[in-house]
Amino acid sequence: AAPAPSLWGIPLKYVSLVTLAVQNSMLTIIMHYSRVSIPSSRMYSAAAAVLMNEVLKGSISLLIAYCRIESNIGTESLLLPGLQPKVFLSKFKKLSRDIFSADCWKLSIPAVLYVIQNNLQYVAASNLPAATFQVSYQMKILTTAAFSVVMLRKKLTSLQWVSLLALAIGVGIVQIQSGVAAHHGSSMEISTMNASKGFLAVVAACFTSGLAGVYFEMVLKNSQADLWVRNVQLSLFSLLPCIAHIVFSDSAVPFGSSGWFSSLFRNFGPWAWATILVQVLGGLVTAMVIKYSDNILKGFATSLSIVISFLASVALFDFRMTWPFIIGSVVVLNATWMYNQHPQRFRLASGRDLKA
Ligand code: C5P
Repeated sequence: AAPAPSLWGIPLKYVSLVTLAVQNSMLTIIMHYSRVSIPSSRMYSAAAAVLMNEVLKGSISLLIAYCRIESNIGTESLLLPGLQPKVFLSKFKKLSRDIFSADCWKLSIPAVLYVIQNNLQYVAASNLPAATFQVSYQMKILTTAAFSVVMLRKKLTSLQWVSLLALAIGVGIVQIQSGVAAHHGSSMEISTMNASKGFLAVVAACFTSGLAGVYFEMVLKNSQADLWVRNVQLSLFSLLPCIAHIVFSDSAVPFGSSGWFSSLFRNFGPWAWATILVQVLGGLVTAMVIKYSDNILKGFATSLSIVISFLASVALFDFRMTWPFIIGSVVVLNATWMYNQHPQRFRLASGRDLKA
């Protein structure tokens, strides 16, 4: 068998899982800070941020996909062979054929779902304390399992079903204290945060996360197409819903009038850009985790990030520990651990093994 892909001798599977755990914690904290530290009159547009995320992620994926194409021109040994006109043209043609393949439409479904999810994340991060958002968002393990059972015909052990139930209860316990926690925040946080709105956004984001993740895994592992080509397709299909959201959302400057475009990126300060960059990293790493591991291990990595972001929240945002938060977090972490005790191999209805 071919050796597992690695980076400096460490299997990519572990590199991507650890990177995802760290990225998740960073995103929760930076996104929360970028939203609640600024008065709403100077708030940057979440819709424009989601668009920038897709543009950057798509461009990076395109570059990687281009570099991975082997040219048959025979000048590979020269300096920067990929930039020679003949080689460039041949690679470009091959890449365009791959990107606009007959089955590229399949990516339109997760693309739309992820655009909705990425916008909902901003609503949740603006209305919930960082740690509460992070723990509640673990419900996506539940939705991921449900969609895996329905769409991938995955079988779960009874221990896994019990841990899923424990997970839902743990998230419920944590939710009890979100209203209380909001009152420990700064005066600006108290006036702008709305816990029920934030929690509704998290529930909806968990639904899209499960469906889109399982769908992407199904498309990726059922075809030979390159991961980075799939990512480019995903970003391309995201552009339309991203732009539609910008056009139809309330904006101080009406769409089409002069100054509309510049108004789009008004208030984009360093924190907004930091949020976007961490999100771009997350998208790229998530795709790698789905390819080299699976959605179960992805859940494990993100639960580890809860601990990291919780500790950081205590240090950075004066987040007070309450008993419901501690008990709920322990239940969530235990449930995640239990769920991962007997990872099963995915089997498709056709009987084909889905594991990479
Ligand atoms: O919370 P969850 O793990 O579902 O978040 C996945 C994130 O990764 C989303 O922001 C989505 O846009 C991104 N993603 C991506 N490319 C993929 C798969 C997911 O950018 N191939």
